[in-house]
Amino acid sequence: MALDRNPGPNDLSAFWMPFTANRQFKKAPRMFVGASGMYYKTADGRDVLDGTAGLWCCNAGHCRPKITEAIQKQAAELDYAPAFQMGHPKAFELASALRDMAPEGMDHVFFTNSGSEAVETALKIAIAYHRARGEGARTRLIGRERGYHGVNFGGISVGGIVNNRKMFGTLLAGVDHLPHTHLPDQNAFTRGQPEHGAYLADDLERIVALHGAETIAAVIVEPMAGSTGVLMPPKGYLEKLRAICTKHGILLIFDEVITGFGRLGSAFAADHFGVQPDMMTVAKGLTNGVIPMGAVLAAGAIHDAFMQGPEHVIELFHGYTYSGNPIASAAGIATLQTYREEGLFENAAALAPYWEDALHSLKGLPHVIDIRNMGLIGAVELEPIAGEPTKRAFTAFLNAYEKGLLIRTTGDIIAMSPPLMIDKAQIDEVFGKLSAVLKSLA
Ligand SMILES: Cc1ncc(COP(=O)(O)O)c(C=O)c1O
Repeated sequence: MALDRNPGPNDLSAFWMPFTANRQFKKAPRMFVGASGMYYKTADGRDVLDGTAGLWCCNAGHCRPKITEAIQKQAAELDYAPAFQMGHPKAFELASALRDMAPEGMDHVFFTNSGSEAVETALKIAIAYHRARGEGARTRLIGRERGYHGVNFGGISVGGIVNNRKMFGTLLAGVDHLPHTHLPDQNAFTRGQPEHGAYLADDLERIVALHGAETIAAVIVEPMAGSTGVLMPPKGYLEKLRAICTKHGILLIFDEVITGFGRLGSAFAADHFGVQPDMMTVAKGLTNGVIPMGAVLAAGAIHDAFMQGPEHVIELFHGYTYSGNPIASAAGIATLQTYREEGLFENAAALAPYWEDALHSLKGLPHVIDIRNMGLIGAVELEPIAGEPTKRAFTAFLNAYEKGLLIRTTGDIIAMSPPLMIDKAQIDEVFGKLSAVLKSLA
C-alpha cells in the first residue's frame, strides 16, 4: 500500500513534528535551508535573524568553522566506539574540559544524548547515591511548578508544565513540587532578579515536614526557568534552597540545560548566582546544538560513593549507546574552544546591559504586561486574547518570522536568547523588528 503512494521529496505528511502545531505548519511550512553566524536562510531565500540561538542551543552562532571541521575530521577518523567497557580519548578530553569549566567540585561527568536524558540520569544517580550510602529510603524527588526538565517520564514528573504532564497518566510516584516563583503583581517589569519571593523556597521545609527528610533524595530546579516563559529566581531564593537542602541531606540539582555555557554571562548559572549545586544537567550549548549531547556533572562525593565493591563489577547500571559518542565529543571540545577563544561568555556579559535597555524599551507597547531579562535572555509577556490563550503570541511569532526575526513563544510569552556572538547593531535589529511586530498585533 505504501509503495503506491510515491510521495516525492516534499511530502510533509510522514514527519510527525515535535512540539509543533502540525496541521498549521503543513499548511504554511516554515523551512530553514541554511545558516551562518547570526542568521538563518529560509527556503524562499530570506535571511532570518536568530533571536533564539535555535532552541537556546547555538550559543556560538551557526556553522562555526572550528566545530564543523572537528566533526568532519572525527567522522573520518573514528566514527563510533562502544560506550560500555571501551573508551576513546575525546570523551575523556571533553569530560576534563567540562570539569575545568564548571564550578569547583563538579568533578565527574556522565554523558547522555540530550537534556531530557541528562535529567533522567541525574534523578537516577541521586536515588542510587543515597542507596549506596545506606539511605535507601531516600527516593522522593522534589521539582517545582512550571519547571521544565525535558519530556521523559522522570522529567515530566518533577516538571510542572501542565500540558506536558496531563496526557501521560500517573507519572512517577513519590514526587512533590515547590511553588513556582512568578509573582507578577509584585515583580512585573523587574530588570534582572526580582526583589520578592525568596520566601517561596521555605516551602521546602513544609515538604520535608510532610514526608520526612529521610525519604527525600533530591530537589531539582532550573536556576532560571526558561521554557515556562523565563522566570528569574527572586533574590535570595536559590541560596535558601541550598541551605535547606544541606540542612536535611537532600541533593540539589541545577538543571542548566538552558543556563549553561554563557547564557547569563558566566559559564553556568551556578557561577552567576554564586550557589553551588550537588549535580548539574547540561546539553544544548555543550555542542552548540550541532550534534545531540547532554551530560550530568556530579560532585566528587557522589561519584565516589559508587566506587566500592569488587573492581570488575560495573558500579552504575546506567548509560546510553551513544554516551560520549566520538563525533559529539569532538563537537563539544571544539565548541568549548570556540567559546573560550572568541570570549563569547564575556561578550554576553558585556552586552547584557545594552540588551536589557533595548528589551525594556518595549514597555508600554500594546498588550505588553511584563518584561523580564537576565544575561542574554529576554521575555515579553503579552495579555492573552480572552478565550484564546497562546494565539496572540503565536501570531507575533508568525509575524516576526515574516519580518526576518526568529523568536520563541510559550503560552503568551515571547522568549529570546540569541547566539552569544551578537553585537549591538544586531540587538537593535532584534528589538526594532519586535517592536514593529508588537505594534501590529490586534
Ligand atoms: C531546563 C531544561 N531541561 C531539559 C531540557 C530538555 O532537553 P532536550 O530537549 O535536549 O531533551 C530542556 C530543553 O529545553 C530544558 O530547557
